[in-house]
Amino acid sequence: MTYSVEIRSPGTQPTDCLIVGVYAKNLPPSTRALDDATDGYLSRLRKQGDLPTEPGDTLLLPERSGIAATRVLLVGCGKQTALTEERYDQIVTAAIRHLAKTQAKECECHLPDLSIKGRDTAWMVRAAAMAVLAQRYSYQDPRASEKRKPPADVLFCVQNRAELALAKTGLAEGIAIGEGMDLTRDLGNMPANLCTPTYLAEQAQTLAHDHPLKLTVLDQEQMEELKMGALLAVSRGSRQPPKLITLEYQGGNRESRPVVLVGKGITFDSGGISLKPGAAMDEMKYDMCGAASVFGTLLAVCKLKLPINLVGIIPACENLPDGDANKPGDVLQSMSGLTIEVLNTDAEGRLILADALTYAARYNPATVIDIATLTGACLVALGRIATGLLSTHNGLAKELLNAGQRIHDRAWQLPLWAGYEEGLKSNFADLANIGGREAGTITAASFLARFAEKYRWAHLDIAGTAWNSGKNKGATGRPVPLLTQFLIDQSRHSVGPS
Ligand code: BES
Ligand code: MN
Ligand code: ZN
Repeated sequence: MTYSVEIRSPGTQPTDCLIVGVYAKNLPPSTRALDDATDGYLSRLRKQGDLPTEPGDTLLLPERSGIAATRVLLVGCGKQTALTEERYDQIVTAAIRHLAKTQAKECECHLPDLSIKGRDTAWMVRAAAMAVLAQRYSYQDPRASEKRKPPADVLFCVQNRAELALAKTGLAEGIAIGEGMDLTRDLGNMPANLCTPTYLAEQAQTLAHDHPLKLTVLDQEQMEELKMGALLAVSRGSRQPPKLITLEYQGGNRESRPVVLVGKGITFDSGGISLKPGAAMDEMKYDMCGAASVFGTLLAVCKLKLPINLVGIIPACENLPDGDANKPGDVLQSMSGLTIEVLNTDAEGRLILADALTYAARYNPATVIDIATLTGACLVALGRIATGLLSTHNGLAKELLNAGQRIHDRAWQLPLWAGYEEGLKSNFADLANIGGREAGTITAASFLARFAEKYRWAHLDIAGTAWNSGKNKGATGRPVPLLTQFLIDQSRHSVGPS
């Protein structure tokens, strides 16, 4: 299976399947050229009322003289002026789904020729490639040995030299990000009996073997030496040993300060002694999706060979009840020195992140971003469309919001103003690990902020966006696109504060 780009007019060269878009009332330029070359074949179909018009409707035409293709797949695109990023995604997805039902071994796709206001050819090809990879993703048990039939090769076509250069960039980014998302989805979807902290460390090893990454894995003893009392407290109830995984990528010069990504890696969150209710508890295998997104982003950055320095830090452990588990009322000493009163053992993500954020300071970071399935409250506030973004650094928040907009993996900022931390006051420690019923996403971020005072920091709460529930249950691969776009943007400017 290969993906490529070329300058080509539809119908001029042999292909197993030619894929072109049709708008509700008119045709995109490439499809118009096909219509002209066939003496108005498509226009006649339109007159007969046979052209697909609704976005995502498809019509497969057999071989026809004048068109050098075994099949032609027409894809409805709706009204030209109503084409949005979501629709474009839906259109490419529908085309690829239909293609998979045919015997085509390769195809020629002209859908990047559609136009969305403000989006150039690089964007159109990138989004198309990402949609194709996403549609082709299916979870494969890592223990399964049988191989699936390879999907058809895709050739994305553009009209001229200027577009070709943009299309090449877009394709490279689309494939890198798509493959990063695939990895993130695989790790997220894996059951927690297989995807343990140790397994995550092994995955890191594989990644470091295949790419220029320096791996360090700290075990429990080493974390004890570092006095990571918060992380270790969460892990106490589990028989699986905790791991602190660090992967370092150096694509920039030695002196430039790295961006550090910290991903929550709770491989299963039962709530601990503050046990969660049973309904949908299986979904707490997804509580390591922050960690998985750090792996996915690192993979995308390696594939793109971005000229930046990047560090991924993954605190990984399980949160389970046990005779030795930490309990409500326990007071912990975190690596930072701050003491924490555990009022709810289910607010464990912030505990492991506290120590990981303290640890991050040793990399002298330009920026630290943590990614975590941190609060159910974020799902309530923003649903499954927007990732929650909280930061005390407005410049950084804007860069992340912009990156999300650009790649259509969007975040929405919640305030992190003084006052929200009030509820975290404790009579027995420097702070408590929960802050009451109100504004749960914000109090959680306020907690993290106490451990991230030494650098430019932002927090992404992906509780609503990392996976889908219900019939389409499965990891989404978000926010790998947002993070990779942010890093691409960083690589174009200089890394580090001015
Ligand atoms: N991993 C959960 C957050 C979560 C819950 C994400 C449901 C997605 C869906 C986190 O560790 C947690 O349990 N948070 C608690 C915090 C509370 C105890 C303050 C929550 O959100 O209920
Ligand atoms: Mn929890
Ligand atoms: Zn959790």
